Amino acid sequence: MNHSTNNTLKELRVKYIPPGHGSITSSYVASAKGTLVRDVEGREFIDFTSGIGVMNVGHSHPKVVAAIKDQAEKFTHTCFMVMPYEPVVTLAEKLCAATPGAFPKTVLFINSGAEAVENAVKIARYYTKRPAVIAFENGYHGRTLLTMSLTSKVKPYKFGFGPFAPEVYRMPFAYCYRCPFGLSYPGCDVICADYLKEFFISHVAAEKTAAVIAEPITGEGGFITPPPEYFPKLIKICRDNGILFIGDEIQTGMGRTGRMFAMEHWNVEPDLMTVAKSLAAGMPLSAVVGRKEIMEVVHPFGLGGTYGGNPIACRAGLAVMEIFEEENLLQAAEALGKNLRKRFDAFQKEYELIGEVRGMGPMLALELVKDRETKEPATDEAKALVKFCYENGLIILACGNFGNIIRALMPLVITDEQLDRGLAIMEEGLASLSK
Ligand SMILES: Cc1ncc(COP(=O)(O)O)c(C=O)c1O
Repeated sequence: MNHSTNNTLKELRVKYIPPGHGSITSSYVASAKGTLVRDVEGREFIDFTSGIGVMNVGHSHPKVVAAIKDQAEKFTHTCFMVMPYEPVVTLAEKLCAATPGAFPKTVLFINSGAEAVENAVKIARYYTKRPAVIAFENGYHGRTLLTMSLTSKVKPYKFGFGPFAPEVYRMPFAYCYRCPFGLSYPGCDVICADYLKEFFISHVAAEKTAAVIAEPITGEGGFITPPPEYFPKLIKICRDNGILFIGDEIQTGMGRTGRMFAMEHWNVEPDLMTVAKSLAAGMPLSAVVGRKEIMEVVHPFGLGGTYGGNPIACRAGLAVMEIFEEENLLQAAEALGKNLRKRFDAFQKEYELIGEVRGMGPMLALELVKDRETKEPATDEAKALVKFCYENGLIILACGNFGNIIRALMPLVITDEQLDRGLAIMEEGLASLSK
């Protein structure tokens, strides 16, 4: 029996947890199932966050739970670097088949998204023997020294934490709603991709650049979705210059956009890909999936870590793969995406506050603006909407450099009834803000 209340836990938290590790809500979770989360006081919430894009197969999916229990009873850890085991190898095989590109690939398993990005950069530098990495404005890649340096937004991610890692350069991204070049698509001819060539002159030489790293759709950066020509153009410039392209699919991957990996929408194949979040349904597991000829250059024991490819996490990952196959989750994601787009488009027609609806599949966001002409970010309104939703039983997150973008990251297994209920709360919130 749990006698804790949100307030008693808050008291303990204030005493023992640093404020730097904040939480969006003040409820403490007791249990979660599918799309529903219940707090220690019995209050139920519809979850439109999936724990920031982690629970694509839903909370505590029975297959994931069974795999975790079964593996815990067998063994929990030997360290892959000491004595390897089957789940790492079989999950690697599945991931290689599921990621874009028919070429031979191998997989390195580590623990977090940031660690995957760190390793992708290590491998790219080793392979190319070049130091520089080009990242993007509005990009997010994590909170470790290197990944924080690759991340764009200053507050709260970077402020006070410098100096940053060297040899990181940052280009504008294909943010059509607020074009950094002041142009509009398609008349712009997607020069934001061609700009990479100029970047080699004014910022860093191509022959010193190991990799360009980009999210297909920016996650924390506001679901910015480049036009169809963008990645093919960008990657061609990379290839012409011997630069590797790293696709950071940590938030967009594992079915989030209606495809297993978002880069499929652009029909491009990254040289290295980072995968984490929904890979193992909440177990800490991440991966670098890459072209075999690139991955295999690193000397034995040059990569790894104590927990990398933990057996329980890999069994959870195998269960996730099984769920995608057996429960047709990609089709469900596509249908969810269509439904959600229709509903969000209708919101935009009704509420002036919504400047743009964007994203792909069910990875959709609303950019809130005070005025559709000036596009002044409606940061306070986004905050108020998140608060309204929470108070009325829906957890949802804001994102973007101005915090004015509301993003949908619900589990892909959400039922129509749960979706309707969640959207009704959102709409009530939008209506109350539009008075
Ligand atoms: C695109 C992307 N890359 C990297 C990361 C970092 O992952 P982690 O928080 O697991 O280190 C995130 C996390 O939100 C992300 O969205």
